[in-house]
Amino acid sequence: MIKHHKLTNGFEYIEIQNSVAQAKIALQGAHIFEYKSKTDLLWLSKTSPFEDTKAIRGGIPLCWPSFGNNNPSLAQHGFARTALFEIIHIDETQENSTKITLRLQDNKSTLALWNYHFELNLTITIADTLSLALQTINKDTQPFTLTQAFHTYFNVSGINDVAIGGLEEKPYFDALDTKHKIQKGTITFNQEFDCVYQEVDKDILLQDKSVTTQISSNGSSSTVVWNPWIGKCARMSGMREDAYKEFVCIETANAYDDFKTLQTNESHTLEVTFTTL
Ligand code: BG6
Repeated sequence: MIKHHKLTNGFEYIEIQNSVAQAKIALQGAHIFEYKSKTDLLWLSKTSPFEDTKAIRGGIPLCWPSFGNNNPSLAQHGFARTALFEIIHIDETQENSTKITLRLQDNKSTLALWNYHFELNLTITIADTLSLALQTINKDTQPFTLTQAFHTYFNVSGINDVAIGGLEEKPYFDALDTKHKIQKGTITFNQEFDCVYQEVDKDILLQDKSVTTQISSNGSSSTVVWNPWIGKCARMSGMREDAYKEFVCIETANAYDDFKTLQTNESHTLEVTFTTL
C-alpha cells in the first residue's frame, strides 16, 4: 500500500507499507527518512526541517554529484538532496517487497549549478532488507567526474555502545587532522569522528549491543564514518545539542580517490543493502 502525503507548506512524501516493512520517502532528494522492519533503522532528527530547499537531517540524504566540498563551486554534498525528484515506477506485485524508482534529470537550475546533462535514477527496495541503487547516466557530450554517497544516519541505542567492524587494516583519510592513517581494530567512539575509508572490499558490520546491521555495497570502495560529537553537534543545523548520542553515519560512497569519471552515455550504479542479522 502506498499513500501520498502533502504537508501544508507543499512538502511531499510517500508512505509505503507491505507485509514486512514500512517506509517514508520525500520527493525532495528522493530521501528515505523512515524504514522500519526488524528494527527502526534510520535516525531522524526531531528538529529536522520538512521544507523545500532545506535538507532533511537524518534518514539517507543523497550526496550527489559531489561529496563534501570536493567541488568548491557546489554546495557541500551537492544539490541532489534538495532537488525535486519524480516517481517513475512503483512495483507492488509482491506482498513482502515494494520497489520504487525516482528520477532527477538536468534542468535549468541544475545546469546553472553544474553544466552537464544527466539522468539520475534511485531505486529503493523496501523488504525485510532495505536496498538502494543510485544510477548516474552521462547524457552530455562531455565527460564528467562524480563523487557521491548514501549519507546514512543509523539509529543507535547510545554512541558509546557502538562498534563498527569490517574496516580493520584499511587506509583512511582523517578529515579532522587531514592525515592518512590505517585503521587498527574495530571503530568505537569517544570524540568527534570524520574519516573516509578507502579500499573497502567487504561488508561492514554495525554492532549496537545485541543488534548487528550488515552493510553490503557494490560500485563503491570508499566509506565515510562520521559522528559530530558534542561541539560540532551544538553548532549544526537541524539537530538538538545532544543528538550525537543517538546516531552514527556510515556512508557508502564514491569519495576522494574513489571518484568516477563517466563518458557520454556511460553509467555508474552505487548500491547498498542493509540487513539486520
Ligand atoms: C559528513 C562529513 O559526510 O557529513 C562531515 O564527513 C559533515 O564533515 C557531515 O559535517 C554533515 O554534513 P551536512 O552538510 O549535512 O551538515
